[in-house]
Amino acid sequence: MLKQLLTKASAGEKIAMLTCYDATFAKLMALAGVDVLLVGDSLGMVIQGASDTLGVTMQDMLYHTRIVAKGAPDTIIMSDMPANSYEHDMAEALVNARALIAAGAHIIKIEGGGQMVETARHLVTNGIPVCSHLGFTPQSVEKLGGYKIQGKTAEGAQAMLADAQAMADAGVSMVLFEMVPAALAMQITNNIPVPTIGIGAGAGCSGQVLVLQDLLGIYTGPAGKAPQDYKAPRFAENFLQQSGSVQQAIAAYVQAVKSGQFPEQKHSY
Ligand code: KIV
Ligand code: NA
Repeated sequence: MLKQLLTKASAGEKIAMLTCYDATFAKLMALAGVDVLLVGDSLGMVIQGASDTLGVTMQDMLYHTRIVAKGAPDTIIMSDMPANSYEHDMAEALVNARALIAAGAHIIKIEGGGQMVETARHLVTNGIPVCSHLGFTPQSVEKLGGYKIQGKTAEGAQAMLADAQAMADAGVSMVLFEMVPAALAMQITNNIPVPTIGIGAGAGCSGQVLVLQDLLGIYTGPAGKAPQDYKAPRFAENFLQQSGSVQQAIAAYVQAVKSGQFPEQKHSY
């Protein structure tokens, strides 16, 4: 399944990815033609009510991967490796990646470049398809000093290009960019041999991903915080507003990604 998708992408078809955490939505998304269901550790926020992804565990990821796979047995599932499941030890990374695959994932995602290149290589060498997540990496939100666009300086841009190239050399199947200037994401996309997925990274990527709750316009921030204190990110787009149903909203997103209508300039940096 993953190979077919990569072939479609290299032929120029845009990849429509959406986060998914349960069987009901998995089934809807599969029917609407979503190419990849991302069991994201954003579930820490949108399902668990936390203010970041750092508390999400392997147990959480296994549970959500299983129920998504149950709802969409014929759709590609990408599962995030949660914080502290892969960064410290390559052998541990492989054990945890294998567990996510056994739970129903076809590909796993890890955050960060640099030292994570060797971890990615270790996983790929052992038969695990990997997506590399670069740019703003939420598991490092404290180190990065908050939700900030990445790769804005010349050195930052150069480092991101080098990381993406190193990840492609290590054998990853895809690279995902979060909060990266559109021009840089496009430049890197044109310079690496694997498809790229963007979120807040412009229309020049090979595909797009959104958090389901952002697409539906139903996320109002962490539990216990006033909704009016939460401001949706620039790249979020409420597709439900223009649609008659959740199903139509998801289909409209797929259509907008495939046709290149989403994202627009206003969603990008
Ligand atoms: O966890 C998640 O939802 C993600 C996307 C924002 C890319 O990693
Ligand atoms: Na994530």
